[in-house]
Amino acid sequence: MDSNTIREKYLKFFEGKGHKIVEPANLVLEDDPTTLFTGSGMQPLMPYLLGRKHPEGERLANSQPCFRSQDIDDIGDNRHTTFFEMLGNWSLGDYFKEFQIRSFWQFLTEELRLAPSKIYVTCFIGDEENGIPRDDEAAEIWQKVFKEAGVSAGIVEIGSAVDGDERGIKSGERIFFYDDKENWWSRAGGIATTPVGDPCGPDSEVFYDFGEAAHDPAYGKAHPASDSGRFLEIGNQVFMQYRRTESGFELLEQKNVDFGGGLERLTVAAMDTPDVFKGSLLEPIIDKLEVLSHQDYSDHKVEMRIISDHLRAAVFLATQGLTPSNKAQGYVLRRLLRRVIVKAQRLGLVDNFFAEIVPVVSEIYGGFYPTIKTREAEVISVLVREETLFRKALARGLRELEKLANGPEGEVIDGEELFKLQDTYGFPLEVAVEEIKIRGLVLSEKYAQEFEAALGEQRERSQTASKGMFKGGLEDESEMTIKYHTAAHLLDAALRLIVDPKIAQKGANITPERLRYDFSIDRKLTPEEIAAVEQKVNEWIEADLPVTFEEVDVDYAFETLGAHGVFRDKYGDRVTVYTIGSGDDVVSCEICGGPHVKHTGAIADGKMFKIVKEESSSAGVRRVKAQLQ
Ligand code: ALA
Repeated sequence: MDSNTIREKYLKFFEGKGHKIVEPANLVLEDDPTTLFTGSGMQPLMPYLLGRKHPEGERLANSQPCFRSQDIDDIGDNRHTTFFEMLGNWSLGDYFKEFQIRSFWQFLTEELRLAPSKIYVTCFIGDEENGIPRDDEAAEIWQKVFKEAGVSAGIVEIGSAVDGDERGIKSGERIFFYDDKENWWSRAGGIATTPVGDPCGPDSEVFYDFGEAAHDPAYGKAHPASDSGRFLEIGNQVFMQYRRTESGFELLEQKNVDFGGGLERLTVAAMDTPDVFKGSLLEPIIDKLEVLSHQDYSDHKVEMRIISDHLRAAVFLATQGLTPSNKAQGYVLRRLLRRVIVKAQRLGLVDNFFAEIVPVVSEIYGGFYPTIKTREAEVISVLVREETLFRKALARGLRELEKLANGPEGEVIDGEELFKLQDTYGFPLEVAVEEIKIRGLVLSEKYAQEFEAALGEQRERSQTASKGMFKGGLEDESEMTIKYHTAAHLLDAALRLIVDPKIAQKGANITPERLRYDFSIDRKLTPEEIAAVEQKVNEWIEADLPVTFEEVDVDYAFETLGAHGVFRDKYGDRVTVYTIGSGDDVVSCEICGGPHVKHTGAIADGKMFKIVKEESSSAGVRRVKAQLQ
């Protein structure tokens, strides 16, 4: 059974049960200051789960493209993907547990023809401290359903997933109670992390059992919520009846159901194959990689999974107009594509190949998502541009590595040299290590520590050297002006992230008492935008992000680092780029002379960043004044 068929069956099935099929939300979110991407089907429905009337009624369903960047490092196993489609159905104060459980059961056993004995379920164990009872109601409904199907349905309390890894499951057990880490759902995880104001509730998850053969004992004994590979979560029914408040959890006036099930996972359950990359939405990409690389999937599962997952995600993101950059969503796209190239090198794919993969993705999805087909040429050009840029950076790094290789025989290459390669040429450490091994060169045993040390030294240097370079719009060099200077970079980044990515700096003036910042926009900021910008800057300050600088070629700064700088024509060949944050959390990357604080935490010193004034500066330019108070 292929995924396109399952998607269609699901939507028809719930339409038959009185659901309106609603349009999915955009994958890339532009107006939500709290989230970069849509990560679940319920996200666009938040106001309706909290009580607002939905124009389409109380029963809704759809298939929502989702992207979870927090899962990037998990890709490579048989079930995680960054991009996936979530089949969803919702009751907005209409049906509740029994109708939901019975409907999903019917879909699984009648439409997908899953064997009832292969299905296992979990329920919430309760949380006394927060006054949330154990979900016996859901467990009892499940018990009836299983008994009607002639399947043993023992109920058992597991507690945490770790307890489960030790205990495993015993014969006849079918319904498992877990704690809030497994069976409580909010946009940000368990009870303690549920955001204030959000709808949330206990959930009941459904798992498919691929049998003993799929179990990897390295993860302990098998039980539904383990990572052992034997059980795969194929659906999550959230009984959204609570809202988090400052003082705890309160019952919502309406009882909602929020169901989500991964299409890729439901597909492989229907196929009884425990590898989502064997499903019809990913296998054609894997097949193409096998042809291009002359390698077998069975020998290179991890690389081929990462490449196919990331490229599929990149095609969806670029179809929505996203381009690689060093900020926010654009940085995530850049990271996906660069990681693909690094992994592709390992398969011997050393020439550009993205243009060969995009048509495969558009063939898979073009029927249900026509824009993937109509925008194919643009997507190819965006992805290939990044591919070419990064391959150039890799080639430069390799040339430097060759120089090291041509040094005296047996010479040890240390982490400091690897740091230089990364720092100057953008040549990633991971690739350098790989290439050194391939060339049979000798790598210092302590290269990782040496690399870290060199990175730390560079940070130190950048902070002290920056003092000497002090110039530009700052009036004096007091500690306060340095703090305000870094705060101005954060303000600039927050404006672009929250208000409009096209915003450009038009001027700045900093004194020890305040910062003044002019930027391009043709309207007043709303009070909500001002509040969201302040909040974002304060979050970044609190996150204590590192502030680093590097001196690079001007083209490299713009093209490869994606740095911002408003006076492109006026810069010399070499420029200094200040970066705030690191890795996944780069929030700002600017061409700038400094100086800056070393860590954003140093800006606050017990104070909060506050916008004290927003006014017009000149036509198409607004001015804000901000203080640390
Ligand atoms: N919102 C629920 C989830 O994402 C269904 O698992």
